[in-house]
Amino acid sequence: MKFAYSRADLPSEDLASGRVLFSRPGLTAFPVRLASELFLRAASHLLREGRPPPYHLYDPTCGGGYLATVLGFLHGDQMRNISMSDISAEAVSNAVKNADLLTPEGLSRRLSELSNLVAQYDRQSHRAALRGGNKLFALCRHLPTNVFQADVADANLVASKLAALPSVDLVIADVPYGKQEHWRTGSHEPALLTSLASINVAVVVLATAKGIKFDHPGYERAGKYRHGHRTLWLFRKSTLTAGAAKS
Ligand SMILES: C[S@@+](CC[C@H](N)C(=O)[O-])C[C@H]1O[C@@H](n2cnc3c(N)ncnc32)[C@H](O)[C@@H]1O
Repeated sequence: MKFAYSRADLPSEDLASGRVLFSRPGLTAFPVRLASELFLRAASHLLREGRPPPYHLYDPTCGGGYLATVLGFLHGDQMRNISMSDISAEAVSNAVKNADLLTPEGLSRRLSELSNLVAQYDRQSHRAALRGGNKLFALCRHLPTNVFQADVADANLVASKLAALPSVDLVIADVPYGKQEHWRTGSHEPALLTSLASINVAVVVLATAKGIKFDHPGYERAGKYRHGHRTLWLFRKSTLTAGAAKS
């Protein structure tokens, strides 16, 4: 996969997991530059299909909220809302804290916390985090966020949690795979796409393990890329299904 942006353009260090953004043992992160690239590709698809920003982004396997929060900082100027959900209550509580950083109030709270740590321990890592946090203010855009606990295969629950918000335009999700994270309750990619089709998500980007194969009648594949140990899938809502839903 070729990147549109160079590493130097992105404040990757300031967005490192566990620095300003919260993390806990067992929660995973996502490469910042790859996240940005996936958003840009999805946004250019939406634009080509006549849907200009701002967008409502949803991550239905958000873990600690790292990926969606990073995207909120980097591309919040093209967003109107961010929603995140996960089946794990522990992951959701971390995601709530990360989502809060996308508001100036939440980021200020984090900076006071970091200032206290600097005063108490005078560690280089805390000082670097404090400097990074101050830089992130420039990327803070009062984005409304909505974080909830849900099994993504429970289409009714997901729909009800999102019902009061503008419709979701795009999903970007790092789905469970590999040693650290597994699908719980037997959910898998087609079940996720069934849920997303039921709420009419136009563009879906999934990062999965390499080597898995799946498709879904509600979505057409618009791109498939390899990146290290991941396969990246870009789907757009199938016009056949969209037409059928309207009639
Ligand atoms: C690879 S992690 C996601 C990491 C996340 N993108 C981040 O940046 O922190 C996959 C997540 O999927 C969640 N998960 C597993 N089964 C699920 C299900 N049925 N519904 C929703 N989330 C699920 C796990 O709890 C885990 O947090």
